[in-house]
Amino acid sequence: MLFHNIALIQAVIVACTVGDSYAQSTSTFQWPNAQLSYADLQLYEGDLSIFTDGCPMRGDSSTIPAQWLRLAYHDMSTHSVDDGTGGLDSSIQYELDMPQNIGEGMALSLNDFLSIGIVGPILGLADVMAMGVVFAVVGCGGPIIPYRAGRIDASTAGPGSVPQPQEDLATQTEKFKQMGFNATEMIMLVACGHTLGGVRQVDFPLIVTDVEDAFQNFDTTPQAYDNTIVSQFLQNTTQDVLSIGPNVTTRSDFRIFSSDGNVTMQRYHKK
Ligand code: HEM
Repeated sequence: MLFHNIALIQAVIVACTVGDSYAQSTSTFQWPNAQLSYADLQLYEGDLSIFTDGCPMRGDSSTIPAQWLRLAYHDMSTHSVDDGTGGLDSSIQYELDMPQNIGEGMALSLNDFLSIGIVGPILGLADVMAMGVVFAVVGCGGPIIPYRAGRIDASTAGPGSVPQPQEDLATQTEKFKQMGFNATEMIMLVACGHTLGGVRQVDFPLIVTDVEDAFQNFDTTPQAYDNTIVSQFLQNTTQDVLSIGPNVTTRSDFRIFSSDGNVTMQRYHKK
């Protein structure tokens, strides 16, 4: 299955964000460990799945899992391989006024995590957001992503380095490279992200110009973590507004998906 493989890349998102703090803690690692025990408790017996089981809608547009996945991706995108800073460190809570972080789902998702009573001195917001990705993907029928706690929450905003739809392919490729992903992984990441949810007209009026359809799903199965986004792209039946939208400048998915002549999309279409 395509997304079992893509899950490995998603696991990279979670894993790469453990970063230096994890490396330092391994030298003093002891078991039992209060933080890891609490993380296990939340993972296996906690309440996060209540939000994600069955990939539920949020209102009449997107789903909670889609919003949680996007939030974590944007938070992770501040990672710099050059200086080892950023990553999934919950800096997104200080970055919501940046143009690249527009979207109702961001604040709603943060509120989910902060209101459920899990975040505290033992398990920080970044660890809970990463756990949210695990539940989001499983809740929509995707694979179980390996999870590990130990992130350190940021206290300030990171750089505004999240790729934006109107940027050219070279700029986006360079930004993913800074996050630690090569051009093939960029294609896989965007495809596996955009298997869920879609684009809101109120937040992106230059992308979704059809006011009759205020929310446009990326594919016809927005509540399933599957490879429909890939198959419909290759079959020229895609409805992804970031691939075929009226504004050519913001056809970011099209540029990325086809950036290697569809080789990666074809490879994962066949799995
Ligand atoms: C060049 C890279 C990317 C661009 C330009 C981009 C752009 C966008 C835009 C404009 C939206 C609409 C948001 C809204 O209306 O609230 C969106 C939604 C979404 N993106 Fe991306 N994205 C990119 C990569 C990714 C990646 C790598 C992931 C995850 C691995 C991801 C996950 C999502 C999800 C799950 C949604 C749906 C959110 C919802 O339905 O509320 N995106 N993206």
